[in-house]
Amino acid sequence: MAPFNTILLLGATSGLGESAAKRLLGQGKKVIVTGRRQARLDALKAEGLETYAMDVSDIAAIPKHFDTLFSTYPDIDTVWINSGMATRYSVKDINSYTDADLALEVTTNLTAAAIIARHAIPRFLARGEGVESHFLITTSGLAYVPIPFFPVYNACKAGLHYFLVSLRQQLRDSPVSVIEIVPPYVATEYVVENKDEAPKNLQAMSLKDYEDEVFAQLDNIPAKQLKEVAAGPAVQRVKTWRDGLGAMIAKPFAD
Ligand SMILES: NC(=O)c1ccc[n+]([C@@H]2O[C@H](COP(=O)([O-])OP(=O)(O)OC[C@H]3O[C@@H](n4cnc5c(N)ncnc54)[C@H](OP(=O)(O)O)[C@@H]3O)[C@@H](O)[C@H]2O)c1
Repeated sequence: MAPFNTILLLGATSGLGESAAKRLLGQGKKVIVTGRRQARLDALKAEGLETYAMDVSDIAAIPKHFDTLFSTYPDIDTVWINSGMATRYSVKDINSYTDADLALEVTTNLTAAAIIARHAIPRFLARGEGVESHFLITTSGLAYVPIPFFPVYNACKAGLHYFLVSLRQQLRDSPVSVIEIVPPYVATEYVVENKDEAPKNLQAMSLKDYEDEVFAQLDNIPAKQLKEVAAGPAVQRVKTWRDGLGAMIAKPFAD
């Protein structure tokens, strides 16, 4: 069973987040799920999850949301940022995207995560030496090997990966574990509905196989030992990166 007890799971109204939230609920955990779609939140509440509506791209509102969330649920010991968005762009066609599209994608995927870390981690540390807590972000196999049509998304996920490496180094001697969840291409509702957009040779992993592989690690390996938790084809990408650069990162700062 995962070592998390009260989990704030941001971006869990569908797909990988919803599936992880239900699995954690099935383990008897308290799970607070967030997202923007109220109808989805209402449906999840009816299934026993705690819900909270918030838009992570409204970064000015994040501090107030975290005040409210931590005063409503003072036992939150895990913050898992799963919210994310990916937009196809062609740099050859200025009309395929706008400056505002770019800024929204970076804010949603990367800036919001850094602000959330700022408002969550000091709260965890204030609980003292013996109290374990966990900070997770869902990145992507594309953080390691990008694909051409998601240039900003690839960059945001690679940025999150290195953000987490740095946080893990800073928090090495603390009771806070820093975990990166690295999904491959997974057959979520969205992916199934938009399968014609994907390259024909790309095979999506089933959601159940994906969750089984991720939770086999979360449930069985001590959280402080976990770094990148990958599944399916993303495992080889992470291994190649760790085998190539892990030792260099470990000196002199430890990883
Ligand atoms: N599926 C894959 O193949 C795959 C592969 C690699 C990585 N990932 C990553 O896995 C995570 C989940 O993706 P998914 O495939 O499960 O997609 P999804 O079903 O579209 O889920 C995305 C979640 O993020 C939330 N979200 C998006 N923008 C938000 C915002 N501005 N404010 C608050 N919540 C927001 C959505 O909630 P609302 O719409 O209700 O706001 C939803 O709950 C993402 O970070 C994605 O990049 C997915």
